[in-house]
Amino acid sequence: MIENEFEYDFENRVSAPEYSPEDTEIENTLRPKQLSDYIGQAKAKENLSIYIEAAKRRGDALDHVLLYGPPGLGKTTLAGIVANEMGVNLRITSGPAIEKQGDLVAILSNLEPGDVLFIDEIHRLNRTVEEILYPAMEDGKIDIIIGKGPSARSYQLSLPKFTLIGATTRAGQISAPLRDRFGVILRLEMYTNEELAQIVTRSSKILGIPVDEDGAYQIASRSRGTPRIANRLLKRARDFAEVKYDSIITEVAACEALTSMEIDELGLDSIDRRLLKTMIVNYNGGPVGLETIAAAIGEESVTIEDVYEPYLMQIGFLARTPRGRCVTPAGYEHLGIKFNSNDNGQQTFDL
Ligand code: ADE
Repeated sequence: MIENEFEYDFENRVSAPEYSPEDTEIENTLRPKQLSDYIGQAKAKENLSIYIEAAKRRGDALDHVLLYGPPGLGKTTLAGIVANEMGVNLRITSGPAIEKQGDLVAILSNLEPGDVLFIDEIHRLNRTVEEILYPAMEDGKIDIIIGKGPSARSYQLSLPKFTLIGATTRAGQISAPLRDRFGVILRLEMYTNEELAQIVTRSSKILGIPVDEDGAYQIASRSRGTPRIANRLLKRARDFAEVKYDSIITEVAACEALTSMEIDELGLDSIDRRLLKTMIVNYNGGPVGLETIAAAIGEESVTIEDVYEPYLMQIGFLARTPRGRCVTPAGYEHLGIKFNSNDNGQQTFDL
């Protein structure tokens, strides 16, 4: 099934990097359409620009591309840019949306020459569906079986040249045969505050709301390295600015909006803080297993792994050890809890 919406668990959490339906619409207006307008990801951008230029000169489709990294860093945006720069259509779907081999056959057989097929969460494709992709990616062919039992017949269908762009938050879960069929593998990194401030300034122009330098930096520095969150926080800051601050997003307007959403100066929200505090109070700061943390705070373990942990680890508040997750001394300090190491090397705390 080709779809434009994504099958994510919709959460109300404003600092979650997943989509909400409202975001999908606004993101489409804020998304850059050309590589030259895309801010950040310098390495991926530089490499892609060469590959695109080379493919265009050869009059060929771009090789298949695998994009991986935490959610919200611009994988769909990059797929859109590739399609736009190559002058072809972008078809969007996701691993969980393709249930049967027939779904994928239908998608592939409707592609036009050079098209970009974007499969989000490609690690969630089931194995039988994935097997259709191998010959499609390698030789532009698909094998289909029509009928059952003795009257079953096998046919081979030739496809036009196309580019598969797969996106995943979990490169480790992609099977080796699938991974090996991507000619280009790019890892997306979290954005710096300066890059996010540039994105906020660009988006504010598109939304028609002025933002000053300090306002943009406030939003950027609390966006957990993620443009999707920056754009979402920008919209809330716009609400405050329009109602209370003469329609300009100043530092004061941005701070008030962020405080109202309980987002602290590092971008942590109430769930991040609850996660860290539960680990400290209930499990002595760790080591504690992922499933235990998930049960204690009532979140799915995959959500913790994909959404909360990458940023908490990036800022050095959480560490993964072979025995489980631990809150670091910096994490204790951020919550205002004293970090002690007693004689056993175990952590103790003073509230
Ligand atoms: N909007 C969302 N992501 C962006 C990016 N990387 N560059 C520019 N604008 C964006």
